[in-house]
Amino acid sequence: MNFQIIEIKDNEFQRLSNLVSDKFGIKLPVDKRIMFQSRFQSRLRELGMDSFKAYCDFIFKPENTAAELSKMIDLVSTNKTDFFREKEHFDLIYNRFLPELIDEKKKGVRQLVNCWSAGCSNGQEAFSLAITLEEYKLKTKALVDYQILGTDVSESVLNIARSGIYPFSEIGMIPQEYWKKYVLKSKDQKNPRIKIIQSIQSKIEFKYSNLVDNNYSISRMFHFIFIRNTLIYFDRENQYKILMKVIDRLLPGGYLFIGHSESLINLNLPIRIVSPSVYQKISNEE
Ligand SMILES: C[S@@+](CC[C@H](N)C(=O)[O-])C[C@H]1O[C@@H](n2cnc3c(N)ncnc32)[C@H](O)[C@@H]1O
Repeated sequence: MNFQIIEIKDNEFQRLSNLVSDKFGIKLPVDKRIMFQSRFQSRLRELGMDSFKAYCDFIFKPENTAAELSKMIDLVSTNKTDFFREKEHFDLIYNRFLPELIDEKKKGVRQLVNCWSAGCSNGQEAFSLAITLEEYKLKTKALVDYQILGTDVSESVLNIARSGIYPFSEIGMIPQEYWKKYVLKSKDQKNPRIKIIQSIQSKIEFKYSNLVDNNYSISRMFHFIFIRNTLIYFDRENQYKILMKVIDRLLPGGYLFIGHSESLINLNLPIRIVSPSVYQKISNEE
């Protein structure tokens, strides 16, 4: 089919990008106008609209805003993720941070390790954390348990995360020694898929949370927080606000992980760098 491109005018882009910035903290500078226009073509057609004016009229009606925003987030952000993405982070947890954390003196007392994958996308990061902790528990026989929270602002990625089901091709990112232990393979030849085993799924709670909300309801304190490849969407001011709130949920001495291509330079946060893209919270006494 040969569709005519639906063009977005400057004022329409302005209104929609302001809405995205208000609700999600995501900045869409003017040079993103054409990308925005092209990503929204099929959404407008799905809604039977032939102009961005009609789309603006629709989304700014209070009764439509919330539902449409949940579609919008998937068009303005990227959900790219992988199992064991930036694997050095998981190796550091296994080889260095967990042995430090699991206190030998507390022999006989079960210790609970808390982790948060903020901006978890389809859930692979949270599953990689769970597998790393489970492996540590099995190999060292340490008296340790763990729980993981995965949060995102997109309901569609959270639904995938909650299912624990992925295309078969993703198995390649999981170290081979874990396949048999943690992954079930479907027998469906036409649509080959994998599923993470239930005992690992049961360690993770996936829930909606918008990092720019002033009072997001996360009351737990964490030993490890991953906020990787998510900060890139925000301007420096929002990055600072988000990170201060996230670090507030980190236990003193706990670790914060960001993406390798992200930077915290000049943000003046209560953390110190311990390895590339890995930071430790400074305790109040220091
Ligand atoms: C590129 S993915 C990163 C996934 C994973 N952390 C990783 O590094 O592989 C970025 C995620 O951030 C989420 N996101 C964007 N804005 C957000 C916000 N305001 N609050 C929470 N999550 C947000 C997106 O929905 C997306 O799933």
